[in-house]
Amino acid sequence: MAHRPNASVHLPLLLTASLSRAFFFEPTLQQDHYFIPLRFLQETTWIGLILKWVPAACDLPRIDPFRFLGMMRNKNIGFVGDSLNENFLASFLCILRVADANAKKWKKKGAWRGAYFPKFNVTVAYHRAVLLAKYDQKSFGSDQDGSKGIYRVDVDTPADDWANIADFYDVLVFNTGHWWGSDKFPKEKPLVFYHSGQQIHPPLEMLDGLKVVLENMVSYIQKHVPHKTLKFWRLQSPRHFYGGDWNQNGSCLFNDPLEELQLDSWFDPRNNGVNKEARVLNSMIVETLQGTDIQLLDLTHLSEFRADAHPATWLGKKDAVAIWGQDCMHWCLPGVPDTWVDVLSELIRIGLETG
Ligand SMILES: *[C@@H]1O[C@H](CO)[C@@H](O)[C@H](O)[C@H]1NC(C)=O
Ligand SMILES: *[C@@H]1O[C@H](CO)[C@@H](O)[C@H](O)[C@H]1NC(C)=O
Repeated sequence: MAHRPNASVHLPLLLTASLSRAFFFEPTLQQDHYFIPLRFLQETTWIGLILKWVPAACDLPRIDPFRFLGMMRNKNIGFVGDSLNENFLASFLCILRVADANAKKWKKKGAWRGAYFPKFNVTVAYHRAVLLAKYDQKSFGSDQDGSKGIYRVDVDTPADDWANIADFYDVLVFNTGHWWGSDKFPKEKPLVFYHSGQQIHPPLEMLDGLKVVLENMVSYIQKHVPHKTLKFWRLQSPRHFYGGDWNQNGSCLFNDPLEELQLDSWFDPRNNGVNKEARVLNSMIVETLQGTDIQLLDLTHLSEFRADAHPATWLGKKDAVAIWGQDCMHWCLPGVPDTWVDVLSELIRIGLETG
């Protein structure tokens, strides 16, 4: 693979300031033997057409798993956050496993899912912490006013799942955001925010609570994770519900990506559409990360195009769509997360080279 010196100059700039850049897709036939489809596609014939992401201002090479793991020898990569980071990890592990036939499952230190690559002594794992901060359910039993209890969120305490990893990973990729909505935490059982063990007064609305959690988790990371650890914060993954939200028969049965000109009508908060939240949360995250050593990993814009790339009705289980609606949130593999891996692996390479 040819080394393109320009990439190292332009890529970080491009990613942190990509919202207004022009991009285009170039269809290519799938040639990479290291992509494997997720289970929900195994029973079907996978037509091997994938779309390669082609940034306008730099070259984005496909990750070479042998070279990448060679570069990462004796190092570990951790993802911390919600299921969109798990989706990211799943793609990463599928890509890397061809480079080491003895790759093993790995679930230590609170990891939810991960793999160890003995040939390179590299661990890549995901710690599930959907709010990043610690939270617990408090049930009140049957209450007269219809309340079913609360979720107590300790804004200044990391969830147990990642409380003991600060020294283990050389690269960390954080995210949160996709759970901060009334579908996960309804009014009858709201999030209640605590700081230093005391309830915050006056009580915070959900998004104000998110802001406080972001600030506290970022300062925790700044204090406890060594400066030499490469830290990334990946921005939101956009959803593509068309014609209604997930519980209103919203659908994403598209055959083609969106056009650049369509994106604002789908995602601009000013249009108040069902898919606006990614950009709303992104601006909050960008603001919170200013002045820290955590790099933005802006995968939102490139993913916004891909209305065609979600599982939609391909959920595997009978009746799943009738119960939960279509999945226009997570991503099929092979697919968009493979591009996220290409971007992240380049940023890791650049980060390690520049120390
Ligand atoms: C494997 O990597 C870890 C760091 O993650 C290091 O402490 C250990 O010594 C390495 N093991 C070998 C056999 O090189
Ligand atoms: C969703 O579609 C079903 C079947 O067509 C219909 O019965 C139901 O009312 C729809 N729900 C909403 C919220 O539109």
